[in-house]
Amino acid sequence: MRSLQEIREDISKCDEEMARLLAKRMDYIGEVIGCKKANGLPILQPEQEARRKALLQEVLKGNAYEEELLEIFDSILKVSKRVQAKALFRYNIALIGFMGAGKSTVSHYLKDMLAMEEVETDAMIVKSEGMAITDIFAKYGEPYFRNCESNAIIELQNCRQVIISCGGGAVMREENVENLKKSSRIVLLTATPETTLERVKDSTERPILNGNMNVEYIAGLMEKRRAKYEAAADIIIATDGKDVAQICEELVRKLSAME
Ligand code: S3P
Repeated sequence: MRSLQEIREDISKCDEEMARLLAKRMDYIGEVIGCKKANGLPILQPEQEARRKALLQEVLKGNAYEEELLEIFDSILKVSKRVQAKALFRYNIALIGFMGAGKSTVSHYLKDMLAMEEVETDAMIVKSEGMAITDIFAKYGEPYFRNCESNAIIELQNCRQVIISCGGGAVMREENVENLKKSSRIVLLTATPETTLERVKDSTERPILNGNMNVEYIAGLMEKRRAKYEAAADIIIATDGKDVAQICEELVRKLSAME
């Protein structure tokens, strides 16, 4: 039997080799980003990711540690995506838009797609106030909620490379837009009143829509807010009839083109 020291030396050699290979792999990731940008290729190519995964599965098939090794490659992929996102977006991505525009859904998808952190201003408020949004409205009124929202946005000024999902009314205050713009690109998601109603009709968590769950009310409020949404936005994405993957690809493409 080999001595423990001997085995450990071999493990160290493996680690050194892997560290060098991983460093080389990261350099290639950097090169890939440059190449995609130069050739106008989509930054995210899920088919390519699936192909690489299938290849690794093939290579590791039957290995006693197949599952564990694939898990390691999943983490490598995740880190690579984060490196890619860092190279692409040196700022936060702030999602704005009317209730039901898809901000949370897009935020969750982008989080996985780009391995970025995500925060929701509503969730920050629920946490700091220790109660649901509807209860804050009922107990303290809307102006109090809006102040909490402004404070949450101030708090986020120092974040970088985070996806910020803003409450639907957040950019109605000019100061919030100014504070968001300090560290974020602002993405407006839109949907028609009909699509919006379809998406929010079963929710009771939006005090502004409670008792107003109809197309006329939604269309009216949307119209009142439209100019402020559009003025705040760096890019606008219509979400009707698109799935979340399509929306996120369009978002990444449009933001990358802004550089
Ligand atoms: C609001 C939208 C909500 C939440 C609050 C007020 C609004 O966020 O901030 O109920 O004024 O549009 P979502 O847009 O995420 O639902």
